[in-house]
Amino acid sequence: MHDPAAETGPEDGPLGDRENASAAGASGSTDTAGHRATAGLTVGGRVVVRYRLEEGSDAGATDFVGELVARNDDFIIVDARVGGAGQGGASGQATERVKLIRADVIAAKDVPPPASQPGRAHERVSADELEKLMSRGWQPTERKGLGDWVLRSASGFTGRANSVLVVGDPSLPLDKAIDYAEAWYAGHEAPALFQLHGPTGFEVAEQPVGHALLERGYAVGGGRPDWTRVLVLTALSAQVPPLTTESVPVNADAALSPEWLMAYAAQRSVVPGTTEAVLTGSEGQLFLSVRDEASKKVVGIARMAIHPGWAGIFGLWVHPDHRRHSIASTIVSAIGMVARENNMPAIYLQVSGDNADGIAFWNGLGFRTHHEYTYLAKPEA
Ligand SMILES: CC(C)(COP(=O)(O)OP(=O)(O)OC[C@H]1O[C@@H](n2cnc3c(N)ncnc32)[C@H](O)[C@@H]1OP(=O)(O)O)[C@@H](O)C(=O)NCCC(=O)NCCS
Repeated sequence: MHDPAAETGPEDGPLGDRENASAAGASGSTDTAGHRATAGLTVGGRVVVRYRLEEGSDAGATDFVGELVARNDDFIIVDARVGGAGQGGASGQATERVKLIRADVIAAKDVPPPASQPGRAHERVSADELEKLMSRGWQPTERKGLGDWVLRSASGFTGRANSVLVVGDPSLPLDKAIDYAEAWYAGHEAPALFQLHGPTGFEVAEQPVGHALLERGYAVGGGRPDWTRVLVLTALSAQVPPLTTESVPVNADAALSPEWLMAYAAQRSVVPGTTEAVLTGSEGQLFLSVRDEASKKVVGIARMAIHPGWAGIFGLWVHPDHRRHSIASTIVSAIGMVARENNMPAIYLQVSGDNADGIAFWNGLGFRTHHEYTYLAKPEA
């Protein structure tokens, strides 16, 4: 049987089909300047690649901008934007899958998601593009592409890492795509869970995927109030209040420490091994913490995901005995400072619609709703 996902898996798609861009030819070496330029690119992320053209062609090089689908020793595959250069690569614009010889790459880098609507840095990205970016800020331990959809699994640790990211076209008729996803999760002995997004207040039944899932007996939120409606909030890093001389010291560490993990595990369920893999699985992340002066214990934490042009905030938490002492605001100020200093003008985070206190906190700092999402699951799951 033809496996539709086989060609589209962001990490596991084969590199042998759909020959495309012409080039001078593979050098045979796996340590060329082109290999080094492409080694750090994020699979699943948006990249720009300057590529050497065949000898004798009029132009010496051309640029490809688009999603990096796969990479092996010799090639990279990019779903490159075609036509309308300068239109910003908005969602829905035509793409062509190109296979590029790594040795012929002149330069390459990760770039932020495209702008597709008017607004400032935190407003002009589409919900689809922001969902794809956020998904890279919280990586599952296993992922499988189904056209544009992404099937994610991480031993049940968090809905985000164990659900279908419904974006774009699944490359199959809808019913078959849902069948495929259900079978994939059944193979992982896990319930099928779908993450569906839309504008603020969107009606699940009015979206074709939502409608099809409701028809199959799926329920919005899958019986969990915190999954019924999740808000995606964004702000400019420039608008986050700066740290002051009064601010409590915030520790920022690229490594996940046992103490940070203990504070995290004290307030939510974790899956040993998998939780660490998810927390450390993004293209970049920082673990922030605040310690109580008296007890020396960690009483406030957050995780910052680092992307081109964007920062993500995950797992912000302050011990109940230490709330309303500006610990969370100070941690967010520290994240804002790191973001500003590292060319990340926009910040995102996700907060459950039933977390009134959390929403009040974020709104107070100037974060506003970009869009919403919900999870759909069969009630018995
Ligand atoms: C939300 C949370 C992180 C806030 O931490 P905190 O250190 O108490 O927050 P701060 O002291 O910095 O609060 C700054 C401002 O946010 C607002 N705020 C904070 N908690 C609030 C609450 N429970 N209700 C209403 N407003 C609140 C207030 O305006 C507050 O200023 P004020 O104390 O001068 O009135 C904390 O309550 C918490 O850990 N909750 C559980 C986890 C969670 O919900 N995390 C965020 C979801 S992503």
